Amino acid sequence: MSGFPTIELTVYPFECDAFGHLNEAAFLAVFERARWDALARGPGIDLFRKNGVWPAVRKAGIEYHAAVYPGDVLRIETMVARRGTTSFTLRQSATRASDGVRVSDAELVLVCIDPLGRPAPIPEAVGTFLGPRVTKGTEMLRVEIGKGEAQLPVEVRGDSGDVILFVHGFPLDHTMWRHQMAGLTKWKRVAPDLRGMGGASTPPRASAYSMGHYADDLIAVLDQVGARRAVVCGLSMGGYIVFELLRRHPERIRALVLCDTKAESDTAEGRKARDEQAGLAEREGVGAVVDRLLPKLLGKTTHKAQPELVAEVREVILRSSVPGFAGALRAMRDRPDSTPDLGGIRVPTLVVGGAEDELIPPAVTQQMATLIPGARYESIKSAGHMAPLEQPLAVGRVLGEFLEALPK
Ligand code: MLT
Repeated sequence: MSGFPTIELTVYPFECDAFGHLNEAAFLAVFERARWDALARGPGIDLFRKNGVWPAVRKAGIEYHAAVYPGDVLRIETMVARRGTTSFTLRQSATRASDGVRVSDAELVLVCIDPLGRPAPIPEAVGTFLGPRVTKGTEMLRVEIGKGEAQLPVEVRGDSGDVILFVHGFPLDHTMWRHQMAGLTKWKRVAPDLRGMGGASTPPRASAYSMGHYADDLIAVLDQVGARRAVVCGLSMGGYIVFELLRRHPERIRALVLCDTKAESDTAEGRKARDEQAGLAEREGVGAVVDRLLPKLLGKTTHKAQPELVAEVREVILRSSVPGFAGALRAMRDRPDSTPDLGGIRVPTLVVGGAEDELIPPAVTQQMATLIPGARYESIKSAGHMAPLEQPLAVGRVLGEFLEALPK
């Protein structure tokens, strides 16, 4: 459900002054009660808290048009006038139910804050309730690869600023970066769907999937957005692709963010498992594999505390095309070992690891960071393999600090 329903509230005697009018300060409380009641009837009164933020009022303006008395029933309408990255503006009006007289109008600016009182991006679930955001400077490009080889949808946010390119993991799509795309507003944020995944077209040939193909596709994306160099941020398989990009086009990389990824290639056992999964998906569809993948893609805490996120990731996996899914598994199976390249990395690097990541455990990401000269390591509490999606506030903070500190 999205949007605030109309709420009717009765005026109580204790809210009124010596003349029996609803007191001016109590009026603000009536508007506030209507907002909480709207949440209680919709997504739940704990919508903000359970998403790790609190809506703090930064500014409130109110006009009083007519007197109100105990026992009057007020009909309160609430609408979202503006949605930014961390803040939103609500307009509320109060009408007396008995005669339809408009008695008051208010406008409030609210900011989502984290537990330390710092502005935080509006969480996805809150955004869904508030309704669609009218964003200036958001574009969906379609990047053509080769002569009809593939087409990739690419979300671009921000008209100016240096470019940060987000590369998603398997078997997902660019929406896994939505929190980082919504924040980092000083940056031009670019997030493609990889060939065969999300809304990208799916080349049918098995030979069209390799780390080399994915990496060259990223160059086509950077060319299309006019970025000579970019900060490149890859999660898991996205990180494997970033290592290939480093080998092929190091001059295009300004800095690296490696999330929940590793440099090693697959073991013999791991390669066998890739083949089994690809074969099963080809014979029976992606639905036959999803329940093997899901438990380890997200952390224990997320499985307990964010069932809606688990359900959403499941949906994204189930939308995968079979050739894209199998192609990615075989491309990962055949990827080379990037460990020998780590010592030669000369750009600022941030390594992020979910503390509950079972697929690529913290010991592995930490060890990788020690092999990259000057790399910084950040562990994300209560996150598994998809830290940017599971704990967007914590990841946003470490990413923001890293980007701020980059040499200009
Ligand atoms: C991913 O998240 O991209 C994959 O789980 C990586 C892998 O299977 O190695």
